[in-house]
Amino acid sequence: MTAPVLRALVTGASAGLGETFARRLADRGVDLVLVARREQRLQELADELPVDVEVVVADLADRSDLARVEARLRDAERPVDLLVNNAGFAAYGPVAELDADLQTALVEVNVTAPVRLTRAVLPGLLARGRGGIINLGSTAGFQANPDGASYGGAKAFVHSFTEALYEELRGSGVHALLVAPGITATEFQAVAGVPDGAVPAAAFMPPGPVVDAALTAFARGDAVCVPGAANRLMAVGAKLAPAAVGRRVSAFVHRRYVRR
Ligand SMILES: NC(=O)c1ccc[n+]([C@@H]2O[C@H](COP(=O)([O-])OP(=O)(O)OC[C@H]3O[C@@H](n4cnc5c(N)ncnc54)[C@H](OP(=O)(O)O)[C@@H]3O)[C@@H](O)[C@H]2O)c1
Repeated sequence: MTAPVLRALVTGASAGLGETFARRLADRGVDLVLVARREQRLQELADELPVDVEVVVADLADRSDLARVEARLRDAERPVDLLVNNAGFAAYGPVAELDADLQTALVEVNVTAPVRLTRAVLPGLLARGRGGIINLGSTAGFQANPDGASYGGAKAFVHSFTEALYEELRGSGVHALLVAPGITATEFQAVAGVPDGAVPAAAFMPPGPVVDAALTAFARGDAVCVPGAANRLMAVGAKLAPAAVGRRVSAFVHRRYVRR
């Protein structure tokens, strides 16, 4: 990494990519603050890791829980050098049918939490002139997602927000990275209600290489990391193709493979 990271806060560390970020960072000797709702999972992971680990049980869709995480990030006594805004989930189906509260919670976890946590950690990072923020976007953020409208919209926000932040931070010693994975083998599809086997196995990347690519890109000071050659090709295609083509391809894929 550009400057050594001593302590990282990882949201959504109880599973999938967040758990993998925690393990990889612990391998590098980074102390951790692990955030998610499932306390037992976090505690078991904390017990296993060979570094100092704090567990913060929080529902990031709940503003008072989120405020506790923000307060932890502002604590100058135990500074956090790296914030990994990883917690997230998707909901698939037409906007007219998906529960309004579910879509609101999706925006709270995928958008509001990263914005508020970024705002909480940045003054300390800027004062120390080092460290950074890794935000999890998605290849779903590169085009409109019919039947995944809130999720695609949330990730498009994360993309634009993070790339803008990258430029705002230029020259400060603090660094923002957008990571946009494609389909990754975690609990994500099950949480979103995608039936087992609906998505072809070949489409999945394992979480390890996704996180390795992200940490390498962070160390290099990149603005954007799209892990996996096939996902990078898709991202370039989405940028070059007319928006109408992107959204129709996305509609086909969601109806064929993802929608319940
Ligand atoms: N897997 C993919 O195909 C894929 C593709 C592109 C991008 N991504 C993005 O990668 C990130 C990680 O996803 P994943 O694949 O690792 O999914 P995952 O295995 O389902 O893990 C999601 C994590 O987010 C946490 N989380 C969900 N809702 C939360 C809430 N209300 N409050 C606090 N924590 C919450 C979960 O913890 P608790 O349930 O314990 O709270 C869990 O630790 C997400 O931002 C996702 O959008 C995933």
